[in-house]
Amino acid sequence: MEAAQLTALEKEFENIPLKEALQLVAVRFPGQVSFSTSFGMEDQVITYVIGKNKIPMKVFTLDTGRLFNETYEVWSSTANAFDLQIDPFYPDAEEIQNFVQEKGINSMYLSVDNRKECCRIRKIEPLKRALKGAAVWVTGVRAAQSANRQNFKLFEWDEAFQTIKFNPLLYWSDQDVADFVHQNHTPYNKLHDQGFLSIGCAPCTRAIQFGEDPRAGRWWWENSKKECGLHQTKVLADITDPELTQNDLHS
Ligand code: ADX
Ligand code: SF4
Repeated sequence: MEAAQLTALEKEFENIPLKEALQLVAVRFPGQVSFSTSFGMEDQVITYVIGKNKIPMKVFTLDTGRLFNETYEVWSSTANAFDLQIDPFYPDAEEIQNFVQEKGINSMYLSVDNRKECCRIRKIEPLKRALKGAAVWVTGVRAAQSANRQNFKLFEWDEAFQTIKFNPLLYWSDQDVADFVHQNHTPYNKLHDQGFLSIGCAPCTRAIQFGEDPRAGRWWWENSKKECGLHQTKVLADITDPELTQNDLHS
């Protein structure tokens, strides 16, 4: 993927409304677009638009095995509401069995290494499988979610997953997302009504207080950048930066 191609996509899509943008990306990359949903508010916006307009792209979710029951409920109601096929991807059975046997079921609290290994087995490796053959990965990430995500672009080359990443809601505000979901009566995760802004796995997500950082409830016991490795994208321009090492790219 050439930097010029990304810039061209960025320019072409910059002022296009969501529905048209999703339709256009499906036309530009026929049969090669995959949308990942964790059933968070922003994913529900994208799912609504895909479902209502029958936009031809694959929809998948990573079932880590540690999700909240409320997440399974919204998964089920979403599939029914839009008569949508949502492909589930699971951790490799042997890898997760060995990991839990060796480290324990809640070893993520004991060390950052354990936590990263759990995320690698339950999320990163299944995501690699889910994105196999995809030219474009559509996500619900937004700049307002964290300082780190303010550097994200509408289109990026994702070196780790070898795909173009498209973040169509990048510039949507919290209010834009909430308004869309409520105005369109879109199913949503009921944990959002209990102070959960960003929802991941149950052992690693807590509700946040008013005024706290939107991602403060994720891996709350760690002092990290609050990313699990799904979204550590470096834009193409950064990859050519001689100061960056291979480790930086995948950290
Ligand atoms: S995470 O990296 O911290 O877990 P976050 O919860 O902010 O990500 O979600 C951002 C985007 O990543 C979602 O809009 C979705 O596209 C994707 N994503 C996150 N978790 C999952 C999951 N379990 N299954 C599928 N996609 C996911
Ligand atoms: Fe494991 Fe927590 Fe990562 Fe989920 S978020 S994969 S439970 S460490």
